[in-house]
This record gives sequence, structure tokens and C-alpha cells, in this order.
Amino acid sequence: MKILAFSDNHASFGLTRQIIEQSKGADALVSAGDFTHFGQFWEEFLEKIASLNLPLYLVSGNHELSSYSDFLKQASERYSFVRDLENRVISLGDAQFFGCSYLDSEEGISSFTGLSGEKTSVFVTHCPPSGCLSARNQKGQDGGSSLVRKFVQEVQPDLVLCGHIHDPMERESVIGKSRIINLACRCRVFEF
Ligand SMILES: [Fe+2]
Repeated sequence: MKILAFSDNHASFGLTRQIIEQSKGADALVSAGDFTHFGQFWEEFLEKIASLNLPLYLVSGNHELSSYSDFLKQASERYSFVRDLENRVISLGDAQFFGCSYLDSEEGISSFTGLSGEKTSVFVTHCPPSGCLSARNQKGQDGGSSLVRKFVQEVQPDLVLCGHIHDPMERESVIGKSRIINLACRCRVFEF
């Protein structure tokens, strides 16, 4: 199964066009959050990708927090292809995806039940784990979350897809056996 994953597109026209172009042959879209710009322009973005007829699994970034309690509910009621990945485990091909929002990364990440050891585990989090170069900006400031890092160290997902730090020192890092990929302002195809 082919997944096109992205983060921090902020409803930008250029990245939306890239998402549409690179989604050819994909079976699903996954977003690590900040698909709006301060909670705005989400309808414009979702209208543009609706014609792809692909499910979009997503978590909320800090830009969606202004009305977080019902934001994704509102978006998924209006657009049936929008699926909230927060605190859920969803199987896509040979992978299991589970996600946490920016709010979770500040306040505490749920424990996920129903994870199968036989599938590739993919943790989708807006905020990267702290203490790795994927969480540091070009000035060396760490914008990662210590709670996300603790979770990654304990659960050791095969893959951690994150964003938030738009211009990280390194796109990819490793924590134990977990491969961390910062997708901020980019999109990338994965096959499972
Ligand atoms: Fe963000």
C-alpha cells in the first residue's frame, strides 16, 4: 500500500499542488498536522484534495488548536474522507498507524491498545521527540517534546512521522530502533 505523508502544509498553494501531483498511485494520505494557517483556509485545502478520492488520516498541529475540541469533528463531518488519527490505531496495508495531536504532546500521550507486533508501526505526531536533530532548528533550538521522546523510547515504533520544526538540522534521526522523519513543509511517499 502506498501512503503519501505530509506535514505543515499550512494550506499553502504550492505544497497542495505537490500533494496532488505526488498522490498519483497512492492509496491514502497521512498528515502530521498544521494543515491550516492559524485554523483558517482548511476548507480551501480540503476542497482542493477532495477530488483525489483518498482517505486523509490526520492529527492536529498547533495551528488547529484554536478550536481543537471540535475542529476535526467538524472537518470530518463535512468531508467524509477526513479521518481523525488522534488516539486511534488504524491498519493501512502492512502498517499500523497511531497518532497524537500537538495538545497530547504537551499534556500526555495515551497508551495505544490493539497494536500488532506483526505490522510495521508508524507513530504520527505533530511535535517531534526532543533531543534529536529532527527537532532542532537551524539555530540549534530544540522544539521537540520530552513526552513524545519518552513515548518513542518506551514503545519504539518502527517509524515516527512528525513536523512542526519547518527547517530542522536533519530531516531524519534515530532513537533506538525508531526512525524519525520530519516532514514539515514536505510530502513523501511510503510503501508498506
Ligand atoms: Fe506546528
